[in-house]
Amino acid sequence: MAFDLQDIVPFGRSYREYVDMFALDEADRSCPILDCGGGPAVFNAELTRQGGRVISADPVYAFTAGAIRARIDEVVPEMVVQLRRNREKFRWDRSGSPEELVALRRTAMEAFLADYPAGLREGRYVAASLPGLPFAARRFDLALVSHLLFLYSDHLEEAFHAGALKELAGLAREVRVFPLADLNARRSRHLEPVRRALDKAGNPSEVVQVDYESQKGVNQMLRIVGA
Ligand SMILES: C[S@@+](CC[C@H](N)C(=O)[O-])C[C@H]1O[C@@H](n2cnc3c(N)ncnc32)[C@H](O)[C@@H]1O
Repeated sequence: MAFDLQDIVPFGRSYREYVDMFALDEADRSCPILDCGGGPAVFNAELTRQGGRVISADPVYAFTAGAIRARIDEVVPEMVVQLRRNREKFRWDRSGSPEELVALRRTAMEAFLADYPAGLREGRYVAASLPGLPFAARRFDLALVSHLLFLYSDHLEEAFHAGALKELAGLAREVRVFPLADLNARRSRHLEPVRRALDKAGNPSEVVQVDYESQKGVNQMLRIVGA
């Protein structure tokens, strides 16, 4: 089935958010990284600027910067409405208000868009989807998945999660996933069955507390031992 830009809500996070969500230290940031489902986040642009090596894979990279920008412009006003409506489900001590949070993300997405043409030319943004990413086994030291797996537990089945994470564990020495909760901030029902499936496949995992919390009470990532 063709990927339709209307199906996604592009909402890219900042570099700081990635560092905090995934507890990325200096050593992590200097190894080859895959950002799976990177979308319009600024992580790739900023880490590349700092001398890091990162490839982002996302079906949205099949579209032009103009098309992605138009979709961002379309969804941002609705984002503010949704954040205001669900204000009590989020922590505001770091991000201030729905308007400030959206402004922060908007800045991140503008920086992504500025970097996007160069990143496409350099092969840093690859149009690809789970399952079936076009990378050689053990190509990366670290694979990151932000706000794709577990978050959309009502839309993506347990088998999809298990398959996606086994695939990523074959591509990288370690996989980190955030969040482990669904859109209603409830721990994903897929988490424990998927961890058992990974264990059986020889990829043990641990749940790690991190210094990042946007949805209230959602502050853990999954670390999976990969290839
Ligand atoms: C909510 S956005 C998160 C973007 C970014 N990781 C962040 O946290 O700011 C989810 C992203 O997952 C991408 N996506 C959806 N299905 C995917 C799949 N099967 N494989 C890889 N990425 C996918 C979407 O295109 C979208 O850019």
